[in-house]
Amino acid sequence: MMRSRFLGVGMYVPEKVWSNDDLRSMMDTSDEWIQQRTGIKQRHWAAANQTTSDLALIAAENALKKSGVKKSEIDLLILATLSPDHEFPGSACFLQAKLGMPGIPALDIRQQCSGFIYSVSIADQFIRTGMYKKVLVVGAEVHSRGLDRTTRGRDVAVLFGDGAGAVVMGPVPSSEVSKGTQSQILSTHLHADGNYAKELWIQAPGLAYPTENRVDPGAFERGEHFPKMNGKTVFMHAVRRMPEAINEALDQNGLKLDQVDLFLFHQANLRINEMVAKQMGIPEEKVFNTIDRFANTTAATIPIGMAEAEKAGKLKPGMLVASAAFGSGFTWASMIFRW
Ligand code: UT7
Repeated sequence: MMRSRFLGVGMYVPEKVWSNDDLRSMMDTSDEWIQQRTGIKQRHWAAANQTTSDLALIAAENALKKSGVKKSEIDLLILATLSPDHEFPGSACFLQAKLGMPGIPALDIRQQCSGFIYSVSIADQFIRTGMYKKVLVVGAEVHSRGLDRTTRGRDVAVLFGDGAGAVVMGPVPSSEVSKGTQSQILSTHLHADGNYAKELWIQAPGLAYPTENRVDPGAFERGEHFPKMNGKTVFMHAVRRMPEAINEALDQNGLKLDQVDLFLFHQANLRINEMVAKQMGIPEEKVFNTIDRFANTTAATIPIGMAEAEKAGKLKPGMLVASAAFGSGFTWASMIFRW
């Protein structure tokens, strides 16, 4: 069967940087608390006129340039985001209009922190079956405007940054697949357990409420329109599910952990990634983290990690890379690819 591969990666983060100390003008927090618990030193937050599709546009254009693929060659556009420009239509449609590539399918993926791997998996299936040849996959978030940036929301607000990452995917020439060393996606693995949907969510507004309560001033006063998280539960599940998902990917491909050259994990908390690496016996130098600079950009963390690792010379052609993510839903996922 045909396989797919990454043809190029691009990213974009807004210009304005907020250090941990800068947040003290909004809430009762400290650089020490944030760094000790999460490893985050700063985050980029969007300008007042920047939306998720604006950030996605720049990352997508950078990925197209990097891959040498023209817009007219793209057969499918996928955008993973939990911070859409509007309730509907999906932000992939807004992005598509900005990219100027009408006519092709545009798909939104709402799987939060696992959204990028879910999107890659969908693109991979379309390319494997031959239905589409070139797919543009983007993960983008503008979290900053949706956070409770007061002391009430500090447990969540300090964790998130704005940013976007994108990849162009295309088929591996079938004559090359059997060589095994050819750049390709080996496998993707997707999971969810909706029993935990309310452990990290935004409660309101929603069409779950009767029409008269749909935009309920009381819900706004209670801050139900801000993300709420049971941090300890999320942490506990993340450190279990991410190793499970990596092992699943290794087993499926008959690979051993030490054959993997680089681990690009979702960036929710440096302590989660350290614990996963320790549990699995992964040497520190094989894990590439960006959370100290960008915080958690949800669907964008993995493509941002790819772009930054490539720029830093840590991600080189031929390397075997394993990625895993865990987040709201709960959803979790992994993938193994040769760069
Ligand atoms: O990608 C999305 C998935 N998200 C995650 O994976 C996040 C997983 N969870 C975590 O990373 C951790 O649970 C957190 C970093 C969010 C929180 O760490 P924690 O050790 O679970 O802290 P906590 O929520 O139990 O809070 C401890 C204390 C509390 O004060 P008291 O009650 O002990 O007096 C909080 O009020 O820290 C306080 N606190 C803060 N203090 C300063 C909470 N947030 C802050 C803050 N600054 N920003």
